Amino acid sequence: MSVSSLKGGVGKTSVTMGLASAALQRGVRTLVIDLDPHADSTTGLAVSRGAGTEAGQLLRDAKKAQVTEHTVRSGWVDFLPEEERAEAVLDVVPGSALSATFDRPDIRPRDMRRLRTLLEGVTGYDLVLVDCPPSLAGLTRIAWAASTQVLLVAEPSLFSVAGTERTMRAIRMFSNEYAPQLTQAGVVVNRARADSAEHEYRLLEMERLYKDKLMLPVLEENAYWQQIQGAAYPVHHWPGDQARDLAKSFDQLLRQLV
Ligand SMILES: Nc1ncnc2c1ncn2[C@@H]1O[C@H](COP(=O)(O)OP(=O)(O)O)[C@@H](O)[C@H]1O
Ligand SMILES: [Mg+2]
Repeated sequence: MSVSSLKGGVGKTSVTMGLASAALQRGVRTLVIDLDPHADSTTGLAVSRGAGTEAGQLLRDAKKAQVTEHTVRSGWVDFLPEEERAEAVLDVVPGSALSATFDRPDIRPRDMRRLRTLLEGVTGYDLVLVDCPPSLAGLTRIAWAASTQVLLVAEPSLFSVAGTERTMRAIRMFSNEYAPQLTQAGVVVNRARADSAEHEYRLLEMERLYKDKLMLPVLEENAYWQQIQGAAYPVHHWPGDQARDLAKSFDQLLRQLV
């Protein structure tokens, strides 16, 4: 499942993190592939720099590489009770600036299939999440070509709604041309503020535009989110009611996706 949006900063990485945390909690065996050259989800998942083999390197060696030999275990697993750790699966293909070499707008179809090739025959996971960079250039295409679903993330703002519309069109075109297996999982709305009339208006607009593709619950602006991510914690293990509500929202989203 690719987690995508045209715009940066809307919450792709945050949604990837939240779903990964919910998956770890529920025993859904998960692999997170960090395709964004900024490697934020690698940091957020408590993977130390230099561990494993970076996504960019694996993409270069796509024909030869065995993904499962190059993944790193997320440090989040240590948050589980000791007796659950051995069974838990939350692995990461770490990101780094190396992947940027594939982020050309004119990527060749041959290069586009590199992640798909890498994931062929990989077993042992119930869910593979690909955290994408904020563009529709090479890396996002590489992610889509390997995915069965795209999960879009949008903010309830004018430009984000317009960007999501464009992305949905791009997904339809892409799946017609290169990836018949690809479907739209839905749109997650992030950073909504209950006290904003503009947000309320945009939410109604999104309901009208996306209908059953609009995923609920909507994720609210939550001041703790940056602290949680900064500390590289799984949201399900952050103390306090505010984080608990956020964690529950991700449980609900995950249930609809897996
Ligand atoms: N619901 C939210 N409430 C508060 N801050 C958020 C929320 N979602 C994301 N953020 C913060 O906004 C910034 C951008 O989010 P991020 O997930 O990195 O976006 P993207 O991956 O789409 O670029 C991060 O610092 C993140 O902690
Ligand atoms: Mg990101």
